[in-house]
Amino acid sequence: MREAGQVRRAKDRRAGAGTRLEQPGSPRRSAPRRRITQTSSRAELSESAGKTNLVPARATRFFGRDTELADVREQLLTPDVRLLTLTGPPGIGKSRLALEATRALREKFANGIVFVDLTPIRDPALVAHAIALRLGLTRFSRPVVEQLTHFLREKRLLLLLDNFEHVVDASLMVAELLGACPSLSILATSREPLRIDWEREYLVPPLTLPADLGHLPEAGRLVAYSAIALFVDRARAVHPRFVLDRHNARTVTEICSRLDGLPLAIEMAAALVKALSPQAMSERLAHGLMQLTAGARNLPERHQTLRGAIAWSYSLLKPDEQKLFRGLAVFVGGATLDAAKAVCADHDAGEMDLFGALASLVDKSLLRQEPQPDGQPRYYFLESIREFALEQLISAGDLHRMQQRHAAHFLFWVQQAEPALDTREQSLWLNRLEWDHDNLREVLRWSIAEPGRRETGLRVAGALLWFWWIRGYMTEGTRWLQTLLARVDGDVEPAVRAKACHAAAFLAYRLGDLQEAQRLSEQSLLVWRQLGDTPGIAQALNNLGRVALSQHEYALAQSLLQDALALHQQLGDRAESAYAINGLGELARINGDLEQARALYEEALSIWKETGNTEMAAVVLFNLAQTAMRQRDLHRARSCLGESVQLHKEVSSQYLVNCSLVGLAELAAHEGRARQAARLFGAQDMLSEAYRETMNPPDQAAYDASMTMTRAALTEEEFAAAWSEGRSMTLAQALDDGLSSPAEVEKDPHGKRKTTLTRREQEVAALVAQGLSNRAIATHLFIAERTAETHVENILNKLGFHSRAQIAAWTSQHRSA
Ligand SMILES: Nc1ncnc2c1ncn2[C@@H]1O[C@H](COP(=O)(O)OP(=O)(O)OP(=O)(O)O)[C@@H](O)[C@H]1O
Ligand SMILES: [Mg+2]
Repeated sequence: MREAGQVRRAKDRRAGAGTRLEQPGSPRRSAPRRRITQTSSRAELSESAGKTNLVPARATRFFGRDTELADVREQLLTPDVRLLTLTGPPGIGKSRLALEATRALREKFANGIVFVDLTPIRDPALVAHAIALRLGLTRFSRPVVEQLTHFLREKRLLLLLDNFEHVVDASLMVAELLGACPSLSILATSREPLRIDWEREYLVPPLTLPADLGHLPEAGRLVAYSAIALFVDRARAVHPRFVLDRHNARTVTEICSRLDGLPLAIEMAAALVKALSPQAMSERLAHGLMQLTAGARNLPERHQTLRGAIAWSYSLLKPDEQKLFRGLAVFVGGATLDAAKAVCADHDAGEMDLFGALASLVDKSLLRQEPQPDGQPRYYFLESIREFALEQLISAGDLHRMQQRHAAHFLFWVQQAEPALDTREQSLWLNRLEWDHDNLREVLRWSIAEPGRRETGLRVAGALLWFWWIRGYMTEGTRWLQTLLARVDGDVEPAVRAKACHAAAFLAYRLGDLQEAQRLSEQSLLVWRQLGDTPGIAQALNNLGRVALSQHEYALAQSLLQDALALHQQLGDRAESAYAINGLGELARINGDLEQARALYEEALSIWKETGNTEMAAVVLFNLAQTAMRQRDLHRARSCLGESVQLHKEVSSQYLVNCSLVGLAELAAHEGRARQAARLFGAQDMLSEAYRETMNPPDQAAYDASMTMTRAALTEEEFAAAWSEGRSMTLAQALDDGLSSPAEVEKDPHGKRKTTLTRREQEVAALVAQGLSNRAIATHLFIAERTAETHVENILNKLGFHSRAQIAAWTSQHRSA
């Protein structure tokens, strides 16, 4: 018989698992009881410096599992265990065990631990995207899996893939990752194994219970069994005066044992102690559980137990609570109070009624409530409970109506969000969209699957353009738009279609597919012209202008952008006109008219700062930095870049990767910090290689020149070492590195300081420090005055200084060091 808690190659699995009955652990081995007092949100993640530690914290207490924790950790540190899958029935505690087990492993994985919740993902093809996004990879000019393997190849990283059973078809992708990335480890939780070569399976056992119900230890010692401890803890949460004593100890043990030591079932039963004494509960369980599982006879035994427990709690709800419980099943990834109200509440129900019903579901452990990062409550189901709720919704014949309400609400909501993305509320709304991204995906999925519903999907997708772009979902957004547009039927409003085409065109342009961008922009232009929709026409012209610019058709770009600008101005729409102004700035920069470029960028910047469009302000600040760099004004370039990064961070923009790293690398090169420049180029190459493919010629030339300068300043080995150091950096690390103070020297790997001035420049610097003029220096060194001037200029640039006095101060410090 298969023993739970044992590791085996997935391929040798045998069916069947026994209840786990054992002696309590010795006091020394019992798990440290640590309460996480801070309320931590489901979505709250921490990124510690240098490593990616993206593992959510749980707010409830964790019991027992000493042996399992030790086993799992040991397995994960065994070199030939590349994929460990925690399997077992729903609610047995796979996810929780995985989270707890990885806590103590942070030090062991140099590049961190990354948690990917697969629960809300419905399409196996999106698994690789989900992983890539968690790793901060954004622009996918080549297949995502390829990009992932490229990124993970040299990294010692632990991926935690939670609730894999939904997307088992993605297991081949996992195999591919493991094959290509020798230092990558994966911990998966799944109701069934992935069945790939690399896999070791670990069957998660139930919580511990006394082996012999006939000879129970006294109540005080019973809590050494984790099932009992969990019951008592959760019972106290709803009924603070609950104590385990000699009167109820046996009954509580019986309850936990009837519930097979399944933590989720125990949590739900314990939540009922406010209403039912343990005695009454035990009696009902003895008779009722099996009836409640009617219809689920084909499920494995423990799965039936869990269903029974859920069904039991459900049967005790009031009718309106039951209705709410069922209705909430249409949400994917949880719901805010407002969304729950809009979708589930009846017209005549007040906010308090709904709030009361939600609170009651939370009390009964049927629903979870955790604060979002903005402090608002968010309600969500554990997966097995959502599945049950969905079944109830279907058998009540109400699925269709609720899906429609869900879609209608999110359509309304997203249309509220869209205009706000152009204002000071940009960051707030981007976050809100992010928290409800899975609900939005669900609406899109539904609208594609449901005949006659494409228009809803097209409207939602059209409104999500900025969110998709700023937050790095360009490839995914493109997929949704393409699928929807390919299936458009006759009754879709032309304006809706034009807007979706426009969105798809913009994303195609950003992803470097210029032909597609042009085709789609022309389509949207045609429709908007037919409709006489001037704002639409202006936007399409703007898109076409950007495409022409990237295709090096500068005269055409100029006229398109100017037409767009004239229309925006005619409409009095300053916020939109800034896009055309910024485009014209790009054109001026390409034409080498740097002063004109700078003036145009400044104009766009002041508009966006005024309207509060932080993301676009950050983008144009980056353009200003590039211009300043070409004007050799490194001081200004640095300040523009710094501000740009700051603003990009404010809106958590993924576009950041693309621009900022290139800018910072080039700046480091110009300032003579060659090692740092090589690191940043390496980081940029790793995090967003696709960016360079869409660069315009002067940017490309500037990039190449900076790269040449960097290579020239280092030996081949030094360059290679710095480059590969950069490739293993996270985005946060690379940005910190790039923004560190522009010291005149850079640290070598051993912490010693090393100047980057050539010997000749050092001589010149010494003479500057003595107060010599360029002419005097030239005479002194037997060189032309012009050459001396160039040396001084290079020294100023390399050290990031503006005056000869700064060189003098640096030289004297440097000597005394
Ligand atoms: N050792 C434990 N101590 C305290 N609570 C636990 C423990 N194990 C599990 N739980 C709780 O039990 C519930 C179910 O656990 P979890 O979600 O990990 O189950 P699962 O096996 O991943 O289920 P599913 O197959 O549905 O994903 C959660 O609320 C979890 O916090
Ligand atoms: Mg789980």
